[in-house]
Amino acid sequence: MRGRKQRTEIPLLLLLVLMIPVWTYAVRGDPPLSSMSAPPDPSPPSLSSSPASTSMAAFSPGLPVGGRKHRLDSHEKLLIALIVSCSLLGAIILIFMALWVYYSKFSHKSSKMTSRRSEAEKGLALAPFLGKFSSLRTVSRKNSVAFFEYKLLEKSSNNFSDSNILGVGGFGRVYKAQLDDSKHVAIKKLDCGSQDALREFENEVDLLSKMQHPNIISLLGYSINDETRFIVYELMQNGSLETQLHGPSRGSALTWHMRMKIALDTARGLEYLHEHCNPPVIHRDLKSSNILLDANFNAKLSDFGLAVTDGSQNKNNVKLSGTLGYVAPEYLLDGKLTDKSDVYAFGVVLLELLLGRKPVEKLAPAQCQSIVTWAMPQLTDRSKLPKIVDPAIQDTMDMKHLFQVAAVAVLCVQPEPSYRPLITDVLHSLIPLVPVELGGTLRTAGHSGN
Ligand SMILES: Nc1ncnc2c1ncn2[C@@H]1O[C@H](COP(=O)(O)OP(=O)(O)O)[C@@H](O)[C@H]1O
Ligand SMILES: [Mg+2]
Repeated sequence: MRGRKQRTEIPLLLLLVLMIPVWTYAVRGDPPLSSMSAPPDPSPPSLSSSPASTSMAAFSPGLPVGGRKHRLDSHEKLLIALIVSCSLLGAIILIFMALWVYYSKFSHKSSKMTSRRSEAEKGLALAPFLGKFSSLRTVSRKNSVAFFEYKLLEKSSNNFSDSNILGVGGFGRVYKAQLDDSKHVAIKKLDCGSQDALREFENEVDLLSKMQHPNIISLLGYSINDETRFIVYELMQNGSLETQLHGPSRGSALTWHMRMKIALDTARGLEYLHEHCNPPVIHRDLKSSNILLDANFNAKLSDFGLAVTDGSQNKNNVKLSGTLGYVAPEYLLDGKLTDKSDVYAFGVVLLELLLGRKPVEKLAPAQCQSIVTWAMPQLTDRSKLPKIVDPAIQDTMDMKHLFQVAAVAVLCVQPEPSYRPLITDVLHSLIPLVPVELGGTLRTAGHSGN
């Protein structure tokens, strides 16, 4: 700024200095030297002689006045021409300088405006992001979450049209959308008028932004528009396990081996949360509607709004939350929350996969029956168990495997948490039941190599 100003002032000053003698001469009409050194003339000026000639005569007494006058005339003409040309040159230079000053000032201003605009644009993109996350605990990973422009989400989901709805949850709906690069995504739209919804949004974005695992849903970004929050995930083409089991297809798309693979994937996702996250994470809302299936029926855990990090807060003080039918008895009765609460919920999901029943069945308007209390007496009875298996997979599995899986489920839903196995032990007991091509170690007839 300062250097630029100095540069414009210097040529202006130089020009002024150069022009001063020319303008002075033009104004006064006589050479500057004569006025400086002419002695005072005692005789009154003659009418025939001009004041100029008088003063010149006084200055050069040895020269005839007439010849001098002639020479003075041509000299004056030369001076006038010089003055005119100097003035013209000065005017041209001044015009150019004025143009240059104007141009430099204008371009400086416009470059300033451009940089201000780009900063404002940056600010617009970052402001909601920074504002939103100010209440989150972790700072280090915040910047890795992408912010989506609301307009883009609106356009890509066909203005959140009903035909794009993938599922309905507690605080809003999940929509299918296609981004500009033709990538399909799922957008959860949360009405964050309540503190609970806002907390769940922040919790989910915060936790998912720190996780990366093949059996955990991938977070792609988030967005904000007034009170509404949006979470963008990878699209899970085959929807939720709940829809697959209890929806119109009633589990017909899921073979026994696929169900074992879904159970194994779920256990892998939980093992990641319990054993590999630091601090460990308790999902707290594991259920079939929060287990999502991709195009190849790979299962991923989703919906981390209620998840808690072990150690970062007193997990025994967190608000009692969960879904009826999946909540472990010690958590429901005493609010005691451990990783074994997730193991209990996993046992319920395993029963859903085996039996094709909902976790809570309505017997009468005011009478419900939990899958655990209904199935428990039959799960260890080898004559009864095959009869209560989901009709969609009845007689399609190795009985030995069925009894094994039922035994795992019985352990997982034990009322006493310390009797339940760790998820890592559950996982290892499931691996031999899943075919090699689905990620286990079971060699089926077609892939045994014999
Ligand atoms: N990424 C996704 N791909 C496909 N469907 C999804 C996806 N995320 C959620 N859904 C559908 O939306 C439902 C509700 O989503 P969820 O995240 O569980 O919301 P809520 O927290 O409200 O329960 C899911 O049960 C599922 O049917
Ligand atoms: Mg859910």
